Amino acid sequence: IRSFLSLEDAGREDLREILDLARAHAEGRVGGTLAGKTVCLAFFEASTRTAVSFELAARRSGADVISLSEQGSAICKGESLVDTVVTLDSLGADALVLRHPAAGAAALASRHTSAPVINAGDGCGQHPTQALLDLYALSEAVGGFDELANRRVAVVGDVLHSRVARSVIPAFQKAGMEISLVAPRTLLPSDAGAWGLPVLPSVDDALDWGAEVLYALRLQKERMTGARIPSVGEYARYYGVSGRHLRGGALVMHPGPVNRGVEISGDVVLDAASLVPNQVAAGVAVRSAVLAVATGAVDRVAA
Ligand code: CP
Repeated sequence: IRSFLSLEDAGREDLREILDLARAHAEGRVGGTLAGKTVCLAFFEASTRTAVSFELAARRSGADVISLSEQGSAICKGESLVDTVVTLDSLGADALVLRHPAAGAAALASRHTSAPVINAGDGCGQHPTQALLDLYALSEAVGGFDELANRRVAVVGDVLHSRVARSVIPAFQKAGMEISLVAPRTLLPSDAGAWGLPVLPSVDDALDWGAEVLYALRLQKERMTGARIPSVGEYARYYGVSGRHLRGGALVMHPGPVNRGVEISGDVVLDAASLVPNQVAAGVAVRSAVLAVATGAVDRVAA
């Protein structure tokens, strides 16, 4: 049994194994791994993709599913996260999937339950299952996990507020990819210099650098406390991905939800070069695999 708080401790082979298990789920070679288990989905911040795909994953794997949101739970009466987690533990949850607006919430929760905690996004912290499904979708598009090595990916946009960036950049690195950042200084974390990644001024420069994948991040206005960018128009001009950027064959990714016309133009979302639908579709298989590993059911699969 293990929690998924980040991918920090995962090695390259761990990533390969979980993607292989996800593929087995996608192809219907495993199922029913969570029969008799109870999965609690506690989403204290808005979600469509993550919440729905975790629910589908848990149900299709045979689990009983409990869904909890802030409204309608005792959180809105003032109960703390820790007391909520302790309560769910007492009620027999076998896994806790947690989305929360505060970075570190999943790690805190994991210290107060015997069940594995799966971080479904914690503020500006981490989003490990997003990174796993991104790896899955990209590896399927390029012909397999080993085909990712040495490919160049530009991570574009609001790195500062992005939990996705903090998970997907190490995941791409572990897969052997080369990474550059394309962002205004105002949307880079203060420690980004220590990451040792080239910082480029525009998507055009990223393509000149040799980016084969443009990974656009959502502009997270809800996490901005002041004016961080000159204007949305200027952001779109330098950091937005549009049709002309696809001429050289680059693939486009985005974790969603997309601000169309800002991070990616509407035609690009629908273009064959866009892996956005593939990323969403990968969510169920990848999260099925994560739930199986987290609850220890993967050992039964292997046996
Ligand atoms: N990518 C992502 O986490 O989307 P949701 O907020 O819809 O879950």
